[in-house]
Amino acid sequence: MSPSGILALFIVSFCAISSHCATAAQVTYDNRAIIIDGKHRVLVSGSIHYPRSTTQMWPDLMKKSREGGLDAIETYVFWNAHEPARRQYDFSGNLDLIRFLKTIQEEGLYAVLRIGPYVCAEWNYGGFPVWLHNMPGIQMRTDNDVFKNEMQNFTTLIVDMVKKEKLFASQGGPVILAQIENEYGNVMSSYGDEGKAYMNWCANMAQSLDIGVPWIMCQQNDAPEPIISTCNGWYCDQYQPPRSNIPKMWTENWTGWYKNWGGKDPHRTAEDLAFAVARFYQLGGTFQNYYMYHGGTNFGRSAGGPYITTSYDYDAPLDEYGNLNQPKWGHLKQLHDLLHSMEDILTTGNVSYVDLGDSAFGTIYSKEGGSSCFLANVDPGNDKAINFQGMNYTVPAWSVSILPDCQNVAYNTAKVSTQTSVMVKKANVAEEEPNSLKWSWRPEMNEKTILLGKGDVTTGQILDQKEAANDLSDYLFYMTSLDLEKDDPVWSHNMTLRVKSSGQILHAFVNGELIGSQWAKNGGERFVFEQNVKLNHKKNTISLLSATVGLTNYGAFFDTAPSGITGPVELIGYRGDDETIVKDLSSQKWSYKTGLEGLNKKLYSSPSLKWQQDSFPVNRTLTWYKSSFKAPLGTDPVVVDLLGMGKGLAWVNGNSIGRYWPSFIAEGDCKLEPCDYRGSYDSNKCLSNCGRPSQRWYHVPRSFLNGNGDNTLVLFEEFGGNPSSVNFQTVAVGSACINAEENKKIELSCQGRQISAVKFASFGNPQGSCGSFVKGYCEGSKDASSVVEKACVGQESCTIDVSEDTFGSTTCGDDVIKTLAVEAIC
Ligand code: GAL
Repeated sequence: MSPSGILALFIVSFCAISSHCATAAQVTYDNRAIIIDGKHRVLVSGSIHYPRSTTQMWPDLMKKSREGGLDAIETYVFWNAHEPARRQYDFSGNLDLIRFLKTIQEEGLYAVLRIGPYVCAEWNYGGFPVWLHNMPGIQMRTDNDVFKNEMQNFTTLIVDMVKKEKLFASQGGPVILAQIENEYGNVMSSYGDEGKAYMNWCANMAQSLDIGVPWIMCQQNDAPEPIISTCNGWYCDQYQPPRSNIPKMWTENWTGWYKNWGGKDPHRTAEDLAFAVARFYQLGGTFQNYYMYHGGTNFGRSAGGPYITTSYDYDAPLDEYGNLNQPKWGHLKQLHDLLHSMEDILTTGNVSYVDLGDSAFGTIYSKEGGSSCFLANVDPGNDKAINFQGMNYTVPAWSVSILPDCQNVAYNTAKVSTQTSVMVKKANVAEEEPNSLKWSWRPEMNEKTILLGKGDVTTGQILDQKEAANDLSDYLFYMTSLDLEKDDPVWSHNMTLRVKSSGQILHAFVNGELIGSQWAKNGGERFVFEQNVKLNHKKNTISLLSATVGLTNYGAFFDTAPSGITGPVELIGYRGDDETIVKDLSSQKWSYKTGLEGLNKKLYSSPSLKWQQDSFPVNRTLTWYKSSFKAPLGTDPVVVDLLGMGKGLAWVNGNSIGRYWPSFIAEGDCKLEPCDYRGSYDSNKCLSNCGRPSQRWYHVPRSFLNGNGDNTLVLFEEFGGNPSSVNFQTVAVGSACINAEENKKIELSCQGRQISAVKFASFGNPQGSCGSFVKGYCEGSKDASSVVEKACVGQESCTIDVSEDTFGSTTCGDDVIKTLAVEAIC
């Protein structure tokens, strides 16, 4: 071999084993697939948003993503987090986008960079900085020069940073695709001709940045050449790419759904998710991304909505804390491995589709004598006996069977052989009395604001909260003083204060006294607050504290949705039964104060400030609480249980762990029957947690904690709560269940801890589900519990052959599909 040949070989093998390979890759596409260095690819990707986890979590998340069979990680870029004030940038800590991309690369994964910079994402204001809204002359997401200039500035900044670090695939980096805008096609028509012009401008601007890899636009059927339009949704199998020269791509396969304050827990089954993916590849798909693969946590004030919870778990394959969400993670991994093994034939083979009648469909991919098949039964109710190419198959309702050789079923989306992990919360054993933390407290001292009504800015009108507070805080005081003469027409013994609000939280103080609080059940609904007031003759102070719970992130013109108090603010005098006098206070002199005194003084991270130990109050509005605690031992993820608290903000060692609101109960009915995977999923299906707090536990990343020594928890309580039962816990696998058909090798694992006992095991026709398995009428001749105990107890994980060889022969008869059910305790 010539020296250059040896060098080439070295580069190839070095690149094969090392993700640090800096050899440029060529990323192109045709109508079948994304092509990387000449190879047509089946690409499976997953969304992980870097600010929703910590830098310390990233390597483990990437590792679990790769092990789960992903090729790529997709992330948005969060403009408001990176440019909190105009031309002042922040890429520190978990905003270190470059480090995130390098962590992806180190794990040997590709990256899909969705710059947006409008991202939606249940993120505050869809990722737009609020200062942008407050620029004179701006109109967002349309053909407006002020906006376009800012958008181009930020997009270019990101592209240049990524280029400088050589992170585009064209430079040897992991980024194979980039996205501009986000689902603009869903709202474009509302913006008229300017909308279309803006969309074309976005495309041209992106192209001009010359990144050397393709650009995509999701939900944008008219995306101009060479930009690829992609699909988002729970299902994209029926989606047809709008141009004949682009591949069929799915940028958001929603793995579950997000949660609102007052909302129930969403759940999308592993069977249905796998069905959607298999159908997509059956019908010519080439790139599919899970949104989310790891949802994570909305730290700080990053949650949008409004009313998105702090948890952004999403029922994703990796749970909020980074644990495997089983069986979802494992069931999909098997599917990914199989699809990858069929990569060449799926992306370059000849395809023929067969309608087998009665909601059954076959697909045959063939190439050079070989072939691979898919058999789908899209009937949501009935299993089907299908004769396909001379063989008989039973395909369960709402499922796809994959036959890599067109004869043997290697995988069926409805048959789950991965364990179900039941997660449990464990008490913090590092605390001697885990349930009784010692507390000190402080009132939120805003007497000046509440009593004197002194603010920072004064105007003669009611301002939108975004405009007055610039999103520097959730909290904004609207204050006015009122001189009432005895002969004022409104004066009566029966007066009320009436305030129109945009539908988040309002606390009304009159002369320093709280007269009432109100909030919408669903953050989108406006409400009118009306309470009785006792006023003084002469001087009165009205202080209205408005709190936002995340700004709107979606919809045409979402950026102009009102926030805070919309007005009017009125004083109503009732005289007798039928006379009402309305005094409109809206155009009085109003002064505004952003934030709270405790926030502005950084009570959550200033050890020197004085806190009180005595006369500890409960159910007191606007109150700060502080406690110290020991970090739970070990490495399991940590949560703080805030049951008993009302609503507010929480910090651990000065790090914001987000808003809390455990007093907000998930209302409505949850169906009692088990969730049925069959039939189309949407966010109203398979809900749980009714009647309980919509979010009770809050993630405290390990990296926020001091392992040895004391840690500080600070809570700002807005409504009034009782912290006496607040405590720290860890989250771990409590038990692992399996219910798998014979002739499968199954794995049981306690994810890092030992399997301690086998509570149930039966091979034959056991019935029931995890936690309530019972034996059927037939069983293998060996004692299944002893077999499983022998193989598994004391191990972190074990594999078992589900067969008569392992469990002894049965008398079930040939027409019974034998299964193994196990419940193991961790
Ligand atoms: C999509 C949007 C995402 C996210 C998702 C719902 O429409 O592109 O950013 O908001 O909906 O989770």
